[in-house]
Amino acid sequence: MSHGTSPPRTSFHTLGIVGTGAMGRGIAQIAAQAGLTVYLHDLRAGAVDEARDFIAGMWQRGVQKQRLSEADAERYRASLKEAASLTDLAECDIVVEAIVEKLEAKQSLFAELEEILGDQAVLATNTSSLSVTAIASACRHPERVIGFHFFNPVPLMKIVEVIPGLRTSGHVADDVEALGRAMGHFTARTTDTPGFLVNHAGRAYGTEALRILGESVADPATIDRIMVDQGGFRMGPFALLDLTGLDVSHAVMESIYHQYYEEPRFRPSPITRQRLTAGLLGRKSGEGFYRYVDGKPQVDETPLPPASEPRPVWVAADEAEAHQALTSLVNNAGWPLESGAAPSSEALCLVAPLGEDATACALRLGVPAERCVAVDLLAGLDKRRSLMTTPATHDEYRDAAMTLFGHDGTPVSALHDSNGFVLQRVVACIVNVGSEIAQQGVAAPQTIDRAVELGLGYPHGPLAMGDHYGSRRILAILDNMLAATGDPRYRASPWLRRRATLGLPLTNA
Ligand code: NAI
Repeated sequence: MSHGTSPPRTSFHTLGIVGTGAMGRGIAQIAAQAGLTVYLHDLRAGAVDEARDFIAGMWQRGVQKQRLSEADAERYRASLKEAASLTDLAECDIVVEAIVEKLEAKQSLFAELEEILGDQAVLATNTSSLSVTAIASACRHPERVIGFHFFNPVPLMKIVEVIPGLRTSGHVADDVEALGRAMGHFTARTTDTPGFLVNHAGRAYGTEALRILGESVADPATIDRIMVDQGGFRMGPFALLDLTGLDVSHAVMESIYHQYYEEPRFRPSPITRQRLTAGLLGRKSGEGFYRYVDGKPQVDETPLPPASEPRPVWVAADEAEAHQALTSLVNNAGWPLESGAAPSSEALCLVAPLGEDATACALRLGVPAERCVAVDLLAGLDKRRSLMTTPATHDEYRDAAMTLFGHDGTPVSALHDSNGFVLQRVVACIVNVGSEIAQQGVAAPQTIDRAVELGLGYPHGPLAMGDHYGSRRILAILDNMLAATGDPRYRASPWLRRRATLGLPLTNA
């Protein structure tokens, strides 16, 4: 909310909003705060008054919390005007539509507005899933039509995508970007491609988590804990799916997948279709991947196996750093560490694969599968430890590893065998999708990272995330997953491969 300082300059002075629902209200609020006069129009009688009351309530709270002066609130309130009909928008320099998400409705609205507005006025759409070019194609002047995609709730989500259609003028895009900045938002210039930038970049988190669930590697609560504790995400993928609701998420997953002509990296999961059919939408229906009581997810704690007595441990890790991390942990726990070239017949054998499953790693390193436990070292061992067993691993060795890795109270998650652990798989897919977005020139590398931080709340943007974990490791995870599964979902983007093999940062343009 503005503190009364003068906002950055914009060439727009009068802005029209058509559709005063959740999004239209938010856009109107920040436009008024940026000093514009805002005309509100909605098809439904009474909707504009409701929107004005709602926005005034937001400002009133700002005054109560002393974040806004009464004088500013009064000035903002006075700048919100009703447009009873579309013709009342005639003086607007720009009109932003936030009506129903239907191509024909948006096309006919813009065609009508073209007859009313001045020649220089801009027509902006807040669409999140339709093509800006397709909306503009129904206009006589497609060069003044642009995507201006905000996120919900608009005043808090400090990002807006600015999406020129194929025939939009460059100066219109520049002016609308300046307006977005004047409204206090980070502007992400993107191409008119399915999902634009943020919804495109967000494809990996849920879909890969669903594949992991679909392969019975772990349950939703385990996957969520790993992504929060080890990955630093604010919310696990299943908690997020429950928050958004499968009615919304499943539709977005299918829409972007089909718009990219069945690109395997975006392939949705049959799990969500079934759960949607069953009405397990998430929080809004009281049950999704979690059951909710008084708005709180009910999570059963996984019982820990009985503590095991220390036994000899033998470490086989490809990287010196990984070897060091595992041997220190064994030493800190006070368990006997074997240093021979091969393990004794009693030893618990630890491996640290990247993108390989425990089975393949044990066979490759000549480690007995019955005594092999794999450890994910991608994010280190500080916050949570993920362990994976082969189908042949004896329970007593798995239990011993659980005791060893939990010796200092750090939580431990046990996974069934998987090519790439939970964190490796999800992170590698996020980095790969982000890399492909950079490769396709949807947005500049720095824009991709900032937009994802702001729009999706990830701890790093996808390219910075790749650099954080090491792009060579990410590439190894993907290459090993592709080799083992044959699934083109895991083929590495050339953007990632080139920079990882040249030793350049993924943010390098
Ligand atoms: P909403 O349902 O809350 O509001 C839509 C408003 O538009 C309603 O007040 C309705 O009466 C009015 N309306 C519908 N057709 C109209 C027409 N032809 N002329 C005038 N008014 C009309 O919808 P919401 O959530 O605000 O979304 C609006 C648009 O914003 C959609 O295109 C949506 O895809 C997009 N969007 C929504 C986001 C969200 O999280 N809700 C995020 C980003 C974009």
